Amino acid sequence: MNGCVRSDLCPMRMIVAGNWKMNKDSAEATALIAALKVLSVPEGVEVIVAPAFPFLAAAVDQLAGSSILVAAQDCHEKSHGAYTGAVSVPMLKSVGVKACIVGHSERRQYFGETDKVVGLKIAALLEHGLTPIYCCGESQEERVGGRHFEVVTNQLKTALGALNSEQLSRVVIAYEPVWAIGTGLTATSEQAQEMHAHIRELLSAHGSEVAKRVPILYGGSCKPDNAAELFANRDVNGGLIGGASLDAPQFGELIRLAGQA
Ligand code: 13P
Repeated sequence: MNGCVRSDLCPMRMIVAGNWKMNKDSAEATALIAALKVLSVPEGVEVIVAPAFPFLAAAVDQLAGSSILVAAQDCHEKSHGAYTGAVSVPMLKSVGVKACIVGHSERRQYFGETDKVVGLKIAALLEHGLTPIYCCGESQEERVGGRHFEVVTNQLKTALGALNSEQLSRVVIAYEPVWAIGTGLTATSEQAQEMHAHIRELLSAHGSEVAKRVPILYGGSCKPDNAAELFANRDVNGGLIGGASLDAPQFGELIRLAGQA
């Protein structure tokens, strides 16, 4: 892992993670990875890409020798068995995948994923040494109703509550307000910072070391024109990027901006 370049208060490193969602076919994925592989990654920045399942093994092979890590977008909580269509953590590990996004709001919305199930997925990932990238965040209705802190608190308690401090220190959290995902609406720098600080405060119940170690990424229409402001916040340790991760120049610019934060 790269060292932190920000300050003593910085939890550790900046992470720029690209969630490709259900985009790119084989040739397109290969071309995008090739373009990412030649980007320069500043000291203190960790880059992760999450292509769709069929392209994970090829992405790992293609990125051999580079510092970019490959993540999956989901996993099953069981290690094997009669779960048609599912992909287990040991399967991901066997092809060199190092991390996995869990609890994304699109999984919650379209696939009925709950924090209870997400908690089991996180436990499975940690058991096999993969990094969970746990997504949380409130809906527009919850934000307008002033319940955003309560909602995120409950999400974290349900999904992460059973973890001990050592396990928790291996999790990456992504705060993704649902109303900002794919909408062009971004949380303001202040809205992001205050929620990230709130999450950090919740983590501190497990000790200041845990609170310092866990990176908290921002996700939701994060683009080159708003990233510098978001990344400059003390408790924002990078971004989980959707749309802008599908374009190498834009993703490269986000990596560069993370290096300056
Ligand atoms: P956009 O950057 O397209 O808003 O997506 C964010 C996201 O959902 C990343 O997981």
